[in-house]
Amino acid sequence: MTRARETALSRLLMAFITSGLVFMLLPGTLFGVWNLFQISGRGSVGLISPAWLQAHGHAQVFGWIGSFLLGIGFYSIPKLRDKAARIIAAAWVAWALWTMGVALRWAATVYLWEWRVLVPVAGALEMVAFVIFFSIVSQHRPKDAGKSRMEPWVWVVMSAAIGFLLSLAVNLAESIRMSVEGVSPAFPHRFDQVYLALLGWGFLVPFVWGFSAKWMRVFLGLRPVRAQFLIAGVFVNLTGVALAVAGKFSVATWLFVAAAGLSVIAIRTFEPSEQEAKTRGIHKSFPFFVRLAYGWLLVAASLGVAATIWDTSGGLWGASRHALTVGFIATMVLSVGQRILPAFAGMRLLWSPKLMFVGLSLLSVGCTLRVSCEVLAYQEYAKWAWSVLPGSALIELTALTVFTINILATFLLQPSHAVREPMIVNVPRISVLNSK
Ligand code: HEM
Repeated sequence: MTRARETALSRLLMAFITSGLVFMLLPGTLFGVWNLFQISGRGSVGLISPAWLQAHGHAQVFGWIGSFLLGIGFYSIPKLRDKAARIIAAAWVAWALWTMGVALRWAATVYLWEWRVLVPVAGALEMVAFVIFFSIVSQHRPKDAGKSRMEPWVWVVMSAAIGFLLSLAVNLAESIRMSVEGVSPAFPHRFDQVYLALLGWGFLVPFVWGFSAKWMRVFLGLRPVRAQFLIAGVFVNLTGVALAVAGKFSVATWLFVAAAGLSVIAIRTFEPSEQEAKTRGIHKSFPFFVRLAYGWLLVAASLGVAATIWDTSGGLWGASRHALTVGFIATMVLSVGQRILPAFAGMRLLWSPKLMFVGLSLLSVGCTLRVSCEVLAYQEYAKWAWSVLPGSALIELTALTVFTINILATFLLQPSHAVREPMIVNVPRISVLNSK
């Protein structure tokens, strides 16, 4: 029974991860590269269809990161282990609705076929999938609930989950509004700026903080999380999001800098480890790239402040967003993903630690070139920077392709060593995760 349930859970996880990789690679990154080629060719981001830019952003944020989060979320809920069969069936329904919703949204936004109907329908499908997930997660009560207080990382992940829900709700509401009143499915520029602040700082960033607070102590051998700083960081960040929603970007961006700083102090990212990092089965550079990702978080927040003062072209905003989405989020996903997903997918070993290093190195080079040259080119500080941007995009595309190959090869080619002993509830493969 236990073995069958574990196999079913791993299969579900692999379905979410595989569809997430497809969204990331094709409608996400390849389309992003295509957009950047067009922007570089025309010398301005303003001459590109905003619907296409937003289709790319949606595929990355919801198609890639959203699918990964839902997959890992379903996999990790202890409740799933109790009433498995019924809940696994519901989770598959959520997977189908989610995948259909994201795919429909991309296709209708890009091809404009029946977009007035299909874009809101896509938003509704995504919303229903998330509500299924949320209702299953919220039924879960920790075993020791009532006896002790919830750990701080749980609060952070809960705030991120609410950010996720709000992002989907706002997306659905605006999609309906555009379908009734708009001339295209693209959200108006001003609204989109606010929406992106909610997506980035209200949803994606707190998720990474929550998982970092839970896992980095073990993975990097850091000293215990400073809980007060973590909670303070989340509050400052939420205030920043609220101010951004109110249109007060010049204050909000300073709060994002403060929140990023607090998160680094809380997680002790840049402090020396007290124990050796757990890098068995993955590349030894793992702790370096996790720290680098937090460096990108600080860069992203600082560029946001610079954007409120100097941006004239969308270049500083774009660079800030890219430092956040590629530098912070994608680097964390490539680092932590290759650390945990092989174990979650039926106790496998990562196919190639060397490819992990190659992917992360290329991503860092591509991101550095992209962020710096986006400022130089868009702001007209240096004309030559336009010619670097397409190359930076191709390097990032290669990095993400290498990551995809490594994960898919892990799923397909590596043998599964799935459970031999009954699982200990609430500690999914923690022994594997802990082992050096
Ligand atoms: C890896 C290669 C990538 C390339 C070449 C790329 C390219 C672009 C381009 C050209 C834009 C238009 C704005 C600008 O000029 O800055 C953009 C916007 C955006 N990208 Fe990317 N991107 C990439 C990766 C990512 C990733 C990994 C994410 C998220 C996890 C992401 C999320 C977004 C979002 C949310 C927007 C804003 C869309 C909007 O205007 O609503 N991108 N990207």
